[in-house]
Amino acid sequence: MDNKIQINSAGKIFTTDKQDVVALQDVNLSVGANEFITFVGASGCGKSTLLRCIGGLETLSSGEITVNGRAVQGPGVDRAMVFQNYSLYPWLSVVDNIKFSRRLKVNREGATSAEVEVASGRADALLSLMGLAHAAKAYPNQLSGGMQQRVAIARALLPKPEILLMDEPFGALDAQTREVMHDLILHLFNLEKTTIVFVTHDVEEAIYLGQRIVLMAPRPGRIDTIYEVPLPDKRNQEMKLSPEFIALKKEILTRIRETSGMHTDTDLLEQMTRQAEGSEAV
Ligand SMILES: Nc1ncnc2c1ncn2[C@@H]1O[C@H](COP(=O)(O)OP(=O)(O)O)[C@@H](O)[C@H]1O
Ligand SMILES: [Mg+2]
Repeated sequence: MDNKIQINSAGKIFTTDKQDVVALQDVNLSVGANEFITFVGASGCGKSTLLRCIGGLETLSSGEITVNGRAVQGPGVDRAMVFQNYSLYPWLSVVDNIKFSRRLKVNREGATSAEVEVASGRADALLSLMGLAHAAKAYPNQLSGGMQQRVAIARALLPKPEILLMDEPFGALDAQTREVMHDLILHLFNLEKTTIVFVTHDVEEAIYLGQRIVLMAPRPGRIDTIYEVPLPDKRNQEMKLSPEFIALKKEILTRIRETSGMHTDTDLLEQMTRQAEGSEAV
């Protein structure tokens, strides 16, 4: 597999008035071309920060991230991001939302009408691929959350990015809609041959989608364990019931609990309860 993203000794420190937060410490990882890699871990372990650094929306404090061998120095058309909040333009129709980024680029570079037409053709293709053809003229506030997120994904895919960076994109959707989105995104992944880096707090989602899962741990934010997903590339919902799936889910959930500091919290809680009971008895 060709190397698409390379992360070398990446570090990120946020300095606030109260204290410094080590959001990333010595993160090393290679992501292959056309790999689907998922990130899980307790809240605050640096998942979003790492994704934003790959996207060029945030700069590292130390180390380096390269894409196709070139250091990331800011956002680029080779990388597209999709967030949990769909961030559509409410005043534009579905089809215009999808074409919007391309239109900005076209205006800036004075592209020919042929190029604009190619973009229009792709917008239409993405509309049908996403099952949105009937809603092309609708406005975002007329759509369900699942449909809005499909528009956001279509918009991200329009300029044919090599890398799709997704930060909890389905976090706001109900369970059934999320399942539909999972199969849709896997279908897109096979069709478009993109590289996908997908952040989630849902372990089942991480296993179902990912070929590898990176488990991060907090304070300092770092990579704890990388798991290979022992499932065939072509996934179906039935696999969620397979022994391999369930065993991996259990293993990852246990490890997240161990690394999140939640153990110590429950220990502390028990200790406090015992103390409270003790003082009542006196
Ligand atoms: N802009 C920021 N300023 C200060 N601290 C931040 C900022 N962004 C993130 N952090 C801190 O960095 C750590 C990692 O955050 P984040 O990457 O959002 O974690 P995750 O996405 O895994 O929940 C957290 O402790 C968070 O509070
Ligand atoms: Mg986050």
